[in-house]
Amino acid sequence: MLQSISLPRNLDTRPIPTPVHAMVHDLRCRIEAFQDRWDVPQIEQFVAADYELVYQTLDWVRESQMMIGNRFVEWGCGFAAVTLLADCLGWDCIGIESEPTLLQHGRKTVSDWCATLRSEPQANREQTLATPAEPELVLGNFLPTGSEELADDPTLPSLGHNTATAYEEIGLELDDFSVVYSYPWPGEDEFHELVFDRYAARGAILVQFCGPNDVRAWRAVSRT
Ligand SMILES: C[S@@+](CC[C@H](N)C(=O)[O-])C[C@H]1O[C@@H](n2cnc3c(N)ncnc32)[C@H](O)[C@@H]1O
Repeated sequence: MLQSISLPRNLDTRPIPTPVHAMVHDLRCRIEAFQDRWDVPQIEQFVAADYELVYQTLDWVRESQMMIGNRFVEWGCGFAAVTLLADCLGWDCIGIESEPTLLQHGRKTVSDWCATLRSEPQANREQTLATPAEPELVLGNFLPTGSEELADDPTLPSLGHNTATAYEEIGLELDDFSVVYSYPWPGEDEFHELVFDRYAARGAILVQFCGPNDVRAWRAVSRT
């Protein structure tokens, strides 16, 4: 079962460090340029979230919620913005993406911005390791094997990706993660919740960006 975590109304007034603003601005330009290309096939499944609001949400979650561990995974990381935001907040992060082109962009984001974001002392407050590993970006399917069966609509955009589940390559299961972030397409938020509820550890948290001004957070409590 999932328990809704009530998010504060004033989330969007939480401070955002200058390097985070800079990274988000840079990524918006990169994403716009990527989406304006007429000479390469468009990847329609990629839509950028409101990264400032996601940062404010994750920052609040990190500050106020009990964590069962320090591992964070972004389902469908695209340009890896959220993976990096979580990294600078101190989680050990992995981003999973099924589109190789997007993964390349994600890796460039990590190489260009990881060090700058980590230099922000306030955001980086809980990183204790001297040289923590950079976020790992993995090509693959974020859906655990067998979870597609939980969908009642075979046309959901998260389904039918012709890539192997990423968890084998990572060497972890979904229940090894303390926090999962997803940006479901309209109509598939419930499917993501069902998958999280079935496969995540009890006590783990799901953060979802569901559209403008619509962020949600859930905690997995008892098994359904
Ligand atoms: C709506 S975009 C969100 C991108 C990014 N997480 C963000 O918040 O800006 C969804 C992303 O998930 C990827 N995706 C969708 N289904 C997937 C799956 N089953 N496994 C891996 N990636 C998937 C898409 O290619 C796309 O990049």
